[in-house]
Amino acid sequence: MLAGGYGEVAERNLRLLVRLGEIYGADRMIPVSSVQVAGVSYKSLGEPGLEFLEDLANKGAKVKVPTTLNPPGMDLVDWKELGFPEDFAVKQLKVIEAFKRMGIMLTATCTPYLVGNLPHFGEHIAWSESSAVSFANSVIGARTNREGGPSALAAALCGVTPNYGLHLIENRKPTLLVNVKAELKDAADFGALGYHVGKIVKNGIPYFEGIKQASVDDLKALGAAMAASGAVALYHARGMTPEAALMSTDGLETIEVGERELLDSYKALNTGSDPDIVILGCPHASLNEIASLAHKIEGKRLKKPLWICTSRSTKETAEMLGFNEIIEKAGGKVVADTCAVVSPIERMGFKTTGVNSGKAANYLPGFCKQQVVFRSLDDLLEGRVA
Ligand code: F3S
Repeated sequence: MLAGGYGEVAERNLRLLVRLGEIYGADRMIPVSSVQVAGVSYKSLGEPGLEFLEDLANKGAKVKVPTTLNPPGMDLVDWKELGFPEDFAVKQLKVIEAFKRMGIMLTATCTPYLVGNLPHFGEHIAWSESSAVSFANSVIGARTNREGGPSALAAALCGVTPNYGLHLIENRKPTLLVNVKAELKDAADFGALGYHVGKIVKNGIPYFEGIKQASVDDLKALGAAMAASGAVALYHARGMTPEAALMSTDGLETIEVGERELLDSYKALNTGSDPDIVILGCPHASLNEIASLAHKIEGKRLKKPLWICTSRSTKETAEMLGFNEIIEKAGGKVVADTCAVVSPIERMGFKTTGVNSGKAANYLPGFCKQQVVFRSLDDLLEGRVA
């Protein structure tokens, strides 16, 4: 590949991976079984990003391993009805077309593990999208570094990644013990915990003790928030994540997280009071989360707009099961492909957004000029359902 025998695209991208490997002291390249590509929204790519991707596609770039795609900046089907700006949509569709020509599966979700890109324990992958990286490393026990958009795409086009960082078992040991004393009642509490710990541990590896109960959705919320307030790509939780029992916590620096620390997180993340819209599904909602919302609002009427963002395949399953109809009858929308953070909601008349996600609450002020109301799902719905 480096000698150009596989064409210009492979040569250029492998050179990028070799350089990365040299910087981080990798001993060799290793094959990856899948890639998750981020950097899909036209909002973050802009014209230079679109030109880069179209150039690659024009040169015949094709992925060598199964590759899935992060959310774009709009619902790829219902964008008009939802009010996404037309000039944005035209550009976004061109981005999607370029990825499609490269052979990438247009899953358009940050939860690839819920739509068929599911690695097994110990499998080497090259994923970008920080929340998916955290989930794959921590909850599944697969191995990936926190790839950027270009390095993940390069891994997809070459089928390999440099062997360093979290691909090596010795780099997966915890660096901080987190003793959780607070009671965690829902996904928002896990987001608040993640926001707090991410700020402290930065790009280290926290080991949680004392979490009494957590659903897979809670763990995805926890990892997403830590990846946003810090740069956490892997965490362990005693009795819950697969590598926790293999790791020693002897001699680790320890912090305690109680109710006060959680309250501080809520205080820091709440910058608004009266949401124009509530947007759920960060990371993208699972079928369980859609079902749970449907049960909560069945037969009621929402006072303000509500979106729940999810992958298209999850939306289609929810449709078959009747959940979408219940949510729509109450005045909400099941929005596919996109999410609050990567879509141009600031151009759609929204100034204050209600969320139950620590990650979205962290990013919405900077990425979308939003004031944020960060609360549990029940609190967000309370008083807003007739
Ligand atoms: Fe996914 Fe968007 Fe949140 S990409 S993790 S829903 S910011």
